[in-house]
Amino acid sequence: MKKERILVTGGTGYIGSHTVVELQEAGYSVVIIDNLSNSNADVIDGIERITGVRPDFVEGDCTDIAVLSKLFTDYPDIKGIINFAASKAVGESMHKPILYYRNNLNTLLNLLDLMGPNGVKGIVFSSSCTVYGEPDENPVTEAAPIKKATSPYGNTKQISEEIITDVINAGAPFKSVILRYFNPVGAHPSAEIGELPNGVPQNLIPYLTQTAIGIRKELSVFGDDYNTPDGSCIRDYINVVDLAKAHVIAVERMLTDKTEDKIEIFNLGTGNGVSVLELIHTFEEATGVKVPHKIVGRRAGDIEKVWADPAYANEVLGWKATSSLADTMRSAWAWQQKLRERGIM
Ligand code: UD1
Repeated sequence: MKKERILVTGGTGYIGSHTVVELQEAGYSVVIIDNLSNSNADVIDGIERITGVRPDFVEGDCTDIAVLSKLFTDYPDIKGIINFAASKAVGESMHKPILYYRNNLNTLLNLLDLMGPNGVKGIVFSSSCTVYGEPDENPVTEAAPIKKATSPYGNTKQISEEIITDVINAGAPFKSVILRYFNPVGAHPSAEIGELPNGVPQNLIPYLTQTAIGIRKELSVFGDDYNTPDGSCIRDYINVVDLAKAHVIAVERMLTDKTEDKIEIFNLGTGNGVSVLELIHTFEEATGVKVPHKIVGRRAGDIEKVWADPAYANEVLGWKATSSLADTMRSAWAWQQKLRERGIM
């Protein structure tokens, strides 16, 4: 039996596309809205090749409330929303703060405004471990203090969490599950969808795979003088398919009234801290491909070490990251090779 319809904003993007696949595999109907500002409509073909189902797609901008209103008129059966539509480059946000505040906050406000009148029962919001800043202790639980954001991007995540809380506490007729992602990496095992950054990648894995395939000369490791065992920064790298599956569980909880509170917040990570140098080593071991790299100075704004305590998500959602880092690295490499095969990169 077909399940409810879910609106996935930003559904042609990296995490969005993997989540659409998992939603469809679980039987949900999906409509995607995306302005294609950082993605490509071909992603829909990839989703269809994996699942055998073509999700409905509306090209449009969620900051335009008229566009969203029309979407809710055209799809009166939308019962849940997963909001991925946001700008996400930390560095760019330092130079273009208005763009970040406008895109990320107006999109959220428009969605929250339209949910009640359109009978939508819940919204899953993509937040980030960036809200914890440099944590006092690792692993980080959901109870860790929120630190002052160091970028407009990070600030939009904090403000968004506050907006959702205020709106729901004011009596809005819907629920929210806020998911704080650690570092999503890898690609679908089919290599039909994956991460496709515009221009020179800012994040570690796309830069690493582009270096491995020869597009970039060498990977710069930003600092080896941190207070960590090998001196490089530590993160919690979470497989994007594992991450996507948590969204399906979150949607199910909201639509079947299993949520314990009107707002629930979960860390989504593996619980393992991995250094940049360890990650490079794991990639090389897993794929047999060398990654030329050199140590350079620290990158401004980087956190020294942060990894998740995912116990709350493990217990309450019954969700656990199960992919090994080696398999995740192989999936990222298979995707990079697929891009080469297709002549994209
Ligand atoms: C950042 C944001 C996070 C956001 C994510 C995706 C913060 C604290 N974190 O994560 O909220 O969701 O980007 O946009 O704002 N590195 C290198 N060489 C490179 C690239 C990265 O050594 O060429 C290192 C970095 O120093 C870092 C690690 O790799 O230690 C991961 O970096 P990156 O992939 O950019 O993600 P974060 O900065 O952790």
